[in-house]
Amino acid sequence: MNSRDRFLKAAHLEETDRPPIWLMRQAGRYLPEYRALKSKYDFITLVKTPELATEITLQPLQRFPLDAAIIFSDILVIPEALGQPYNFRDGGGIQMEYRLTNKAQIEALEDSAIPEKLNYVSEALKLTKKSLGKDKALLGFCGSPWTLACYMIDGGSSTDFSRTSEFAEQNPKEFILLMEKLSQSIIQYLNMQIDAGVDCVQIFDSWASVCTPSNYYKQSLQWIQMIIAGLKKPIPVILYAKGMNHCLNEQLKTGAKILSLDWTISLKDACVETNNQCALQGNLNPEFLTTDPITVKNEAETILKMSESLKGYIFNLGHGMLPTAKVECVEALLETVTHYRYG
Ligand code: CP3
Repeated sequence: MNSRDRFLKAAHLEETDRPPIWLMRQAGRYLPEYRALKSKYDFITLVKTPELATEITLQPLQRFPLDAAIIFSDILVIPEALGQPYNFRDGGGIQMEYRLTNKAQIEALEDSAIPEKLNYVSEALKLTKKSLGKDKALLGFCGSPWTLACYMIDGGSSTDFSRTSEFAEQNPKEFILLMEKLSQSIIQYLNMQIDAGVDCVQIFDSWASVCTPSNYYKQSLQWIQMIIAGLKKPIPVILYAKGMNHCLNEQLKTGAKILSLDWTISLKDACVETNNQCALQGNLNPEFLTTDPITVKNEAETILKMSESLKGYIFNLGHGMLPTAKVECVEALLETVTHYRYG
């Protein structure tokens, strides 16, 4: 069974020899070869240059036997394409060029010609697919409208995105206008990714937990549902909503076929909660990759054993790879997962 078949079978709840594995932010600061490129080019140049984005996408696959590649890019390319550029704060974190505070600014967001403006992502996907060949799966991705709105309204990284919640409550019409623009842009963007050959896409709702359970559908999930309904081809969609384990079944109403879990619920409980009706992904705590190979092996085996009773499971971390992840821990993880056999 090749990696791509294994990935697609797990996504479609068909039997696999072992779970497929890929990691979130598998390209990143923990790899010296990424840091070497980062010392020559800034992040946004790397994202916007298809040859460099392709090289970074492939770097982790040259080191580790991963089953899938996720394209090197960022969720913030959408606000950038709409006319709200992003950058990085010196001490870490995202800084948007300005904050959205009123209707005129939302009206001014330029949501036409998204595939043209983001053609560099399409080119990177096509180049990556060519290098990957048919044996590995290729993942595209986007941020959810809610999570993008958090950065756009708060103006950058925040601990609680309180300005965004407040704006949504106090300016419902303007908030809806923003969500409509983001959703329509993302539909065009994901359809462009499908045309470029992705096997699957992941929607990151990383700041879902800012929503109260009673607001979650209205503020976030309904827009994700609209996006999934707008896809031109029925490819599997993974939804990652960090901190939302109390709303797993509600997340399935979006049409997502795979739920990506953080590390605050056991796989067994998530499987019971969702009635084993969808594929699950996750949920190793990324902190373990900063410890030692033996700890990683033990923790991964605990998850692998629990995944035996799942119809579909994709191994992954509960969030992105930390800059402090150790290469030997990632090696131990890949060794453990790729040698595991079901049955
Ligand atoms: O997984 C992959 O390798 C694919 C590429 C990818 C990146 N960002 C590259 C990146 C993906 C899938 C993302 C998603 C993303 N970006 C999310 C959703 C996932 C999550 O983390 O919850 C979010 C919220 C962003 C926005 C973003 N971009 C943040 C918060 C940061 C970290 C900023 C900081 O300094 O703390 C980034 C930068 C970023 N995006 C890096 C990478 C590899 C690190 C860049 C570096 O420092 O070299």
